[in-house]
Amino acid sequence: MSKIQSVAVLTGAGISAESGVPTFRGEGGLWRSYRAEDLATPYAFRRDPKLVWEWYAWRRSLIGACQPNAAHLALAEMEAHLDEFVLITQNVDGLHQLAGSQNIVELHGNIWRMRCTRDCCPSWEDRCDPLPEIPPLCPSCGALARPDVVWFGESLPGEALDTAFEVCRRCQVMLVIGTSAVVQPAASLPLVALQNDAYVVEFNPEATPISEAVSQVVGGSAAEALPRWWRRWLAGGRHP
Ligand code: APR
Repeated sequence: MSKIQSVAVLTGAGISAESGVPTFRGEGGLWRSYRAEDLATPYAFRRDPKLVWEWYAWRRSLIGACQPNAAHLALAEMEAHLDEFVLITQNVDGLHQLAGSQNIVELHGNIWRMRCTRDCCPSWEDRCDPLPEIPPLCPSCGALARPDVVWFGESLPGEALDTAFEVCRRCQVMLVIGTSAVVQPAASLPLVALQNDAYVVEFNPEATPISEAVSQVVGGSAAEALPRWWRRWLAGGRHP
């Protein structure tokens, strides 16, 4: 493995599908049953914070019952083997952390964290399920708390985004796992890596807008395809 030292990974909802976390746009996806504009925008929250929190409380319960799958675990193992490995995720489910991954960049926040709507204090972790009260309040000032996730129409955390683009500019290999590659700015990251001559591998059972451009497409489900791909890499000494 002397050749490849710098690897970046971008994950989306598809990597958690086999753990039981619904995706957004696929079959049974959240945006097929719910209107994002009613539940995942700052306007929806201002209009009806109780309704938004009831939905996040439901998602927290669902995700809380899920465990990392073989794809999450393979990424944690890869991190242990490689000098430079950065895992950029669009997921808010926290399953990468549960799988043991360390160097994680969360682009869209985390459903297990909350923040004060008055920004009176830093965001805090809260894994209560069920939530003792809906909507929850800030423990410091008593103002409304909100999920520490990025909603449509909001900007991504600046530092996380800068790190993600920087990492994609210098990686030698990039793995793109379980994302429909339609939501910006995350969907641009694989293209930045390609522009910098990285070898980009897409893991997805379906074609996406980047499938034509990437170096290699691996079909099938992430929990099967990624560990197999990684074992071949370990056996062959360079990316298969
Ligand atoms: N293994 C690999 N990929 C899978 C699997 C699987 N088992 N099951 C589904 N997929 C693929 C689908 O083919 C699809 O391309 O995962 C992708 C999931 O796409 P989306 O549901 O659009 O999720 P994602 O790309 O993560 O969405 C991006 O949009 O709604 C917002 O903030 C939300 O972070 C999310 C962002």
